[in-house]
Amino acid sequence: MIGVFDSGIGGLTVVRELRRFLPGKALVYFGDTARTPYGNKSAETVRRFAVEDAAYVLGQGATTLVVACNTMSAVAVDAIRQRFPSVPLFEVIAPAVDAVAARRAKRIGVIGTRATIGSGVYGQRIRERLPKAKVIERACPLLVPLVEEGMFDAAETKRVIRRYLEPLKHQTVDTLVLGCTHYPFLKDAISHKMGKSCAVIDSASVTAKAVAAQAGKLADGPLTLHFSDLSPHTEELARAWVPEADAINHVPVERVERGG
Ligand code: DGL
Repeated sequence: MIGVFDSGIGGLTVVRELRRFLPGKALVYFGDTARTPYGNKSAETVRRFAVEDAAYVLGQGATTLVVACNTMSAVAVDAIRQRFPSVPLFEVIAPAVDAVAARRAKRIGVIGTRATIGSGVYGQRIRERLPKAKVIERACPLLVPLVEEGMFDAAETKRVIRRYLEPLKHQTVDTLVLGCTHYPFLKDAISHKMGKSCAVIDSASVTAKAVAAQAGKLADGPLTLHFSDLSPHTEELARAWVPEADAINHVPVERVERGG
């Protein structure tokens, strides 16, 4: 069973893509809505939460881990691997970097949370593969709440996108990486802002493709979603974003802190 986990509801974008590439496979998702957002927290805290989140989905029977969250992928993957060395683990940054490298991009923009951009991991990994590339990284913290309010096409959102992306557009980036779980919902508005000459790489989609290609045999089974806080708003978003979910459960955060 695939165990997907994220800081909250944004990782459902990865679940949607996994369902597209691996229809019918058993999947358990944990979203840490009680402690979200992770993107403004310190690396130390994100690492502690990430190990607890991984333990929770493993406790639910997961045999393959997918870190849906860019922030955890940027700062906590080593900690998760160290704690669970024998469990196959996928994260969202490596597939996005592979996609950038395959394009032989020259001027690359990366957008994400403060923690992801502050880690510099995307830039570092892209430069390892494309040493001559120019990488411009930019934190876009306001985009997460706008998505969670469902304001995908709102004038306010377009204004915020313009403000964040103007410098990248100025630098004529040829490739832009959406380095945050929530940004796929804004892909059209972002692509429109960046123009036709800029390819937009969605880390949720390239990650799901990588899991489908490399995960080996996976069992068929239900799709269950677990959240450490299940407000009516969270439940509404989860139902709208993943209508085929077989169950939506609340797990008290204390249980996650105790290790599942
Ligand atoms: N899931 C986070 C990420 O992809 C965004 C939300 C948060 O800050 O927790 O970086």
